[in-house]
Order: sequence, then structure tokens, then C-alpha cells
Amino acid sequence: MPLLPDEPAATIIGTGERAGSPEITVVVPCYREADNVRPLVSALEIALAGRDWEVIFVDDNSPDGTIEVIRQLAWANWRVRGISRIGRRGLSSAVIEGALASSARFIAVMDGDLQHDQTRLGTMVDVLAQDRCDIVIGSRHVEGGDNAGLANAWRHALSNGGIRLAQMMLPVHVGDPMSGFFALRRDLFVRTAPCLSGQGFKILMDLILSAPEKVRVEEIPCTFHPRAAGESKLDAVVLLQFVDLILEKLFRGWLPLRFIGFATVGITGVGVNLIVMMLLRFVGMDFGPAQVISTLIAITSNFWLDNKLVYSDRRLRGMGLLGGFLVFLLVSAVGAWANIGIVQLFRAKGEGLGQASAVGAIIGVVWNYAVSSTLIWKT
Ligand code: GDD
Ligand code: MN
Repeated sequence: MPLLPDEPAATIIGTGERAGSPEITVVVPCYREADNVRPLVSALEIALAGRDWEVIFVDDNSPDGTIEVIRQLAWANWRVRGISRIGRRGLSSAVIEGALASSARFIAVMDGDLQHDQTRLGTMVDVLAQDRCDIVIGSRHVEGGDNAGLANAWRHALSNGGIRLAQMMLPVHVGDPMSGFFALRRDLFVRTAPCLSGQGFKILMDLILSAPEKVRVEEIPCTFHPRAAGESKLDAVVLLQFVDLILEKLFRGWLPLRFIGFATVGITGVGVNLIVMMLLRFVGMDFGPAQVISTLIAITSNFWLDNKLVYSDRRLRGMGLLGGFLVFLLVSAVGAWANIGIVQLFRAKGEGLGQASAVGAIIGVVWNYAVSSTLIWKT
């Protein structure tokens, strides 16, 4: 069934005529939130009663059938829209796509797990409508705000560390730069969108850092509730993506960040190779087989790390994990072979071993990266 109620085949139940775009679009990224979307829509109905609003859920093909619940809601209510992404993951990129699908004057972004206080939305939009600021943030770290919903002490510590780091980078003071609850004019979002990284969770920080002009920020106190159902998706990969976002902003435009990640994984591979080699030699294996085994293990660990971290937002190109690994193996072998050839060539020209190896390694990693990015993992 089509998602959008204005498509001719859509069954619109119990709704009146609707012309034009609403004033407010609430963008809600959701992954495995099947039990939360229905209560959220009911809560929005109450919180935004009397206002002209819609909600766009952006789901990444959740295995719990979140999108089916969204469809059912959309059939009955024109205010509910959905975007279903397949083969993609990520909170920030989901928010970007949802916001770009809006034609409203204002965009509000909130989580789909009822942790954000939807009763603050009206005030947030009013602050924007009065042009008191460009981005209004539902903040846990201003007078009257509360962070009760963070699961444990570890999350509190992590969150505080992240806030310090973020504050050092931001051009304006923000008490809660890690908030996932904020609102802004759509035109500002649209103008900033081409510069957003779309990685990880930190869309608000990215927006403030990437906006074409210095933004005026206002924070209004909010309570962060404990999660209603389901579980948090903030994991180690999301944390790395946060570090990634910071590096990307620092190195803006110099080097593709994915390449830096890929090269770093390559360096860990060299370490793995050496350690396994030493262990095998230690237990008495001959140099030849020990070299083959340690190289295979290093390539396997590189593949695993690349898949989990460097290309976590991408899919293996229709060949499954094993197929992808075999191509990776082949590409790495060609890279290693080219590497050795280049080292010998430079040595023959009288260069020192150090320079020759450096050139060989750089050409090897660039080759591996170029082929991996195009042939193995697709966008
Ligand atoms: N489409 C999509 N794709 N949505 C996602 C994905 C994804 O890959 N990952 C998470 N989400 C959705 C969740 O379904 C939820 O609605 C929202 O994004 C927030 O994700 P949670 O997994 O609930 O994150 P959290 O509660 O740990 O983190 C929240 O609090 C942090 C501060 O402590 C978020 O609001 C963060 O942005 C915030 O920094
Ligand atoms: Mn949450």
C-alpha cells in the first residue's frame, strides 16, 4: 500500500479534505519502535491540538514491522506520513531525509520512543515564530530541565564527556548540544542540508556547525523520560561516528573521512599480522605457513572492522558476507602484490627501503580503498 495519503490508491479513513502543506512537520526517526509510534501519535494529537501539523516517521526497514504500524496510522489520519528506507541505517540521515520531504514552515525533530516531552513542541514553535532564535532546543541542561531518563551512570558520564567535547567546537554556547529534540525553520534546514555529514546521532551539532551563517540558539527546559518500550540503539558504532563527525568538521574538505578510517583499519591489520606471526613462530611453525595464516587472519579482521565500522552505513553489494569477503581477499591480494612490486621497483632505482615501503603502502591502501568503496560496499 502506498504511504502517502494523497496518492490515488491510498485508503483515507475518517479524514476530511486537506489542501496545502501544514505549518509544522514533526520528523521522527525510528528503528524498532513498533510499540511506540501509536502512543506517540496520540500524544502529538493532544500536544499540538489546534495547530496545523503533520508527522513524518522515517523507518529503516525495522524487523519488528514499525512501518506497518505507520501505514495503518497513515490510512486513518492525513497527519501521519512515513518514509521507508531499505538497506540504509542511521538516525541523522533519517532525520535529513524526513526533513527534506517536508514543505512546512517549521521542522521539529524528536525521538520515536516517547523519551522527549512532546508537550514542549508548541512552545518551541512559538519561539521560532516570534523569531527569537534560529534553532530552539529541548534541553536537559538548563534550569528546569531534567535528564532522568538516561539509562545508567555510564550513559551519564558518556553524555557529559560528549557535551564538553561538543561545546569546545561549537561557535555558540549550547548547554545540551547532544539533544535529539529541537526545531528550526525548514528553509534553514534546506540551506544547511548539503553540508551535513548524515552520520551517527549528532544531527543537531552537525546543523549548528554546518549552517551557512552563525545561528541563534535558544534552549527551553525539557525532561528526558525513561524509554517506554524497546531499547536504545546508541552503541559503540554510534560513539565512533561521533568522533568521526568531530574529525570531519576539523578536517573539513581535506581528506575523505572514510579513507582515514579505512587506512586506520589497515594499520590495525599490520599489527594483527605481526602478532599472529610471532605467536605461530613461537609455537614452532615454519615461516612460510605462518606468514600465509597470519596474513589471512589480518585480512579477515580488516574485512570485519571495515564492514562494522567504516562501511557500517552501507550494504555489501548483493554478494553476502562470504562473497564480499572473497572479493575483499582478492582485492587485498592484488594490493599486496602491487605493493611488493612497487617496493622492488623503487629499490632497484636506488631508493632506501623506508621510502620504497612508504610509497608501496600508500599506493596499496589507495587501491584497496578505491575498489572497496565502489565494488564491495554500495551506497
Ligand atoms: N531511522 C532510524 N535509523 N532511526 C533510528 C536509528 C536508525 O538507524 N537509530 C536510532 N533511531 C531512532 C530510534 O528509534 C529513536 O526514535 C531515536 O532514533 C533515538 O534513538 P535511541 O536509540 O532511543 O537513542 P537514545 O535514547 O539512546 O539517545 C537519545 O538521547 C541522546 C542523549 O542522551 C537520542 O535523542 C540522542 O540523539 C541523544 O543524544
Ligand atoms: Mn531513546
